Amino acid sequence: MATHKLLLLPGDGIGTEVMAEVKRVIGWLESAGLASFAVEEDLVGGAAYDEHGVAISEEAMTRALAADAILLGAVGGPKWANVPYEARPEAGLLRLRKDLQLFANLRPAICYPALADASSLKRELVDGLDMLIVRELTGGVYFGEPKTITDLSDGQKRAVDTQVYESYEIERIARVAFELARTRRNKVVSAEKHNVMKSGVLWKQVVSEVHGAEFSDVALEHQLADSCAMQLVRAPKQFDVLVTDNLFGDILSDVAAMLTGSLGMLPSASLGGVEEISGKRRALYEPVHGAAPDIAGKGLANPIAMIGSLAMALRYSFGLGEAAGRIEAAIAGVLDKGYRTNDIKSEGTTVVGTSGMGDAILAELGAAR
Ligand code: IPM
Ligand code: MN
Repeated sequence: MATHKLLLLPGDGIGTEVMAEVKRVIGWLESAGLASFAVEEDLVGGAAYDEHGVAISEEAMTRALAADAILLGAVGGPKWANVPYEARPEAGLLRLRKDLQLFANLRPAICYPALADASSLKRELVDGLDMLIVRELTGGVYFGEPKTITDLSDGQKRAVDTQVYESYEIERIARVAFELARTRRNKVVSAEKHNVMKSGVLWKQVVSEVHGAEFSDVALEHQLADSCAMQLVRAPKQFDVLVTDNLFGDILSDVAAMLTGSLGMLPSASLGGVEEISGKRRALYEPVHGAAPDIAGKGLANPIAMIGSLAMALRYSFGLGEAAGRIEAAIAGVLDKGYRTNDIKSEGTTVVGTSGMGDAILAELGAAR
């Protein structure tokens, strides 16, 4: 059996608590003989700043570059509100994305029937929702230069962020979206603002070209990003794959996440290109939720998104789709049995904490053996 190099970066806030549950699931995978891992662990975000004065150390970056896959918890918190901008916790995550060239961020939004009542939308609108947001992750306004605040002569200041995309960046993310659509319901919506932004004009044009040349069997629809936000809360089940840029993807994926009942439910994968010689693809997996400092340290956090992120790693990085499926089935199973963390509780359910949810999932996994 191949041994997979897995780097764990729990990070800050609830990141460490939900990662603890993932470690138990890793232990189960190994003891059940389903997988073998060489696990390393390091710091990122505020935790790395406290130890090293930077949001990620060079040593951790070296480990990240050597890993087959990375699992990241969350970064950030009020404790680091005043650290230098370059060393803020988010910088660690952004450096990982950029240096590992993880350009494709896959954010599935699946509404488990058992949770439809936890959504802020009516059950009939979200029950059975199964969409995938494909967010461009290494370009756009997040990384475009110049990115500055300058003093003007009249005492005013000017802030500049730069939204920039080159055609190759749009081509490769469009390909990921179309390829994934073929494995699903064969429909892609592409969202941009071509009515206001040049980058939107190019985005729409390049997506159309890739579609025409390579994927004309896939249904493609273009939506303006604002209208797309409206459609997401009006009729979310119209979406199969939604492809969009870095900033719109950040916003729209939070909206999509909330449709499912809780941010605490959603895993994500950030993938690089396939390397020519090794055939490997760099990958980082993380929950969509953040560090949630308000509940950190209390044992209340929902570990499902983090455990689901491990399942995505098994599927996309390690070719262990069957083991991934068992974990996902166990998650659905505990929800069916009525176990809920605080964020997804409703009447008549059994409220458990972080480790209680871990216990329930492990028991379910054992039962499925
Ligand atoms: C996300 C987060 C990050 C982002 C932050 C932490 C930099 O919100 O992964 O969606 O904006 O991309
Ligand atoms: Mn976000």
